[in-house]
Amino acid sequence: MKLFVNATQVVTCAGPARGRRGGEMNDLALLTDAAVAVEAGRIVAVGSQEALWREYPVVEPIDCRGHILTPGLVDSHTHAIFGRARYQEQELRAAGIGYMEIAKRGGGIHASVRDLRMRSEDELYALARARLLTLASYGTTTVEIKSGYGLSLDDELKSLRVIQRLQGDLPLRLVPTWLGAHEIPLDYRDSASRRSEYVQLLLQEMLPQVVRDGLATFADVFCEPGVFTPGETRAILTAAQGAGLSLKLHADELEPSGGAELAAELGAASADHLAAISEDGIRALAASRTVATLLPGTMLFLGKTKQAPARELIATGAAVALASDFNPGTSPTVNFPLILTLGVSQLHLSVAEALIAATVNGAAALNLAHHTGQLAPGFSADLALWACDDVREIPYWYGDRRCVATWVAGQPTLAQSPSL
Ligand code: NIG
Ligand code: FE
Repeated sequence: MKLFVNATQVVTCAGPARGRRGGEMNDLALLTDAAVAVEAGRIVAVGSQEALWREYPVVEPIDCRGHILTPGLVDSHTHAIFGRARYQEQELRAAGIGYMEIAKRGGGIHASVRDLRMRSEDELYALARARLLTLASYGTTTVEIKSGYGLSLDDELKSLRVIQRLQGDLPLRLVPTWLGAHEIPLDYRDSASRRSEYVQLLLQEMLPQVVRDGLATFADVFCEPGVFTPGETRAILTAAQGAGLSLKLHADELEPSGGAELAAELGAASADHLAAISEDGIRALAASRTVATLLPGTMLFLGKTKQAPARELIATGAAVALASDFNPGTSPTVNFPLILTLGVSQLHLSVAEALIAATVNGAAALNLAHHTGQLAPGFSADLALWACDDVREIPYWYGDRRCVATWVAGQPTLAQSPSL
């Protein structure tokens, strides 16, 4: 048994094992003079340090003096399987050429698709492994990873097999998502019938094979004017649900198109982005169990001033999560604490709301709220240790790496030294 002792603060996030809404998001259940007891990968007790020392005299103590302890962060939205970086597009955007215009010219997602198709599985594995090790060093213990830069049967399967191989080789819990509907490939765009051929390829070839090989837990679609229509999205997600996958949706990122409403109607675990969500969309999410996953790094990196209406979502009763959206086009960062900073400064969340959004609600967006995201008896022992005296320092030192260690299912995964 391990006993985590002497932490300045133990931020437990303990409470209901489901997405937190409204005022619930402001409750970090923060303890002082507290310890956390861990055995066989699970948390067995959280409470008074004195009482736990007495109860468990024969333990391996982990001295957290001068640090704070939190649940490991849950990053519920990344596109971490890609090849080369896309730094050229940043300058194009700065010069006034928008994200969708770059895509129309064959850049954007298409550029990553051309690149990924030329790379071997081993090469993609090595690139993703290095990037995800860095991601873990910032305090994340669970990460969702999407395919979506293959857009052909072989290349989507190749991407998902990379995720499968990474599971177990990394100090992270990985959740795989099939995003074959990330974009209409360039060679399917010249007519309406070619376009529907791609949807048929998704439905009749890719989906069955992904499910047969057990390569994904979730299916996701980029539902956006110029990409997949709400009708196509419905067809793809309904089929995926019928085949046993859980659902996510890239919804209302740049323009409203009913994506949030559709996610709620289909019972998706999350609707993600939402910078352009409508009032109806906000009400639909608030009345559903679908988590509203906000990605403030993406809007910031794209140079947009508009962010998702986080305050209105919370006030209306939606469960809000934060995630990095780590990808080569719109959010090339693995620094989840930086996303917490943006949650506070751009989305106007309190620190407590931002941290619940990055733990319990991130877990809820992955259907894992019963398993991870809080320090409470019965939960997986997924913890992060930070070189801070107060939880408010995590978003405060923006861009910094204050995480000094993490544990996944009770196993120590990394040891960093504080950078300041
Ligand atoms: O979540 N919006 C769609 N997909 C990604 C961006 C992908 C890319 O540009 O490579 C996102 O922002
Ligand atoms: Fe995304």
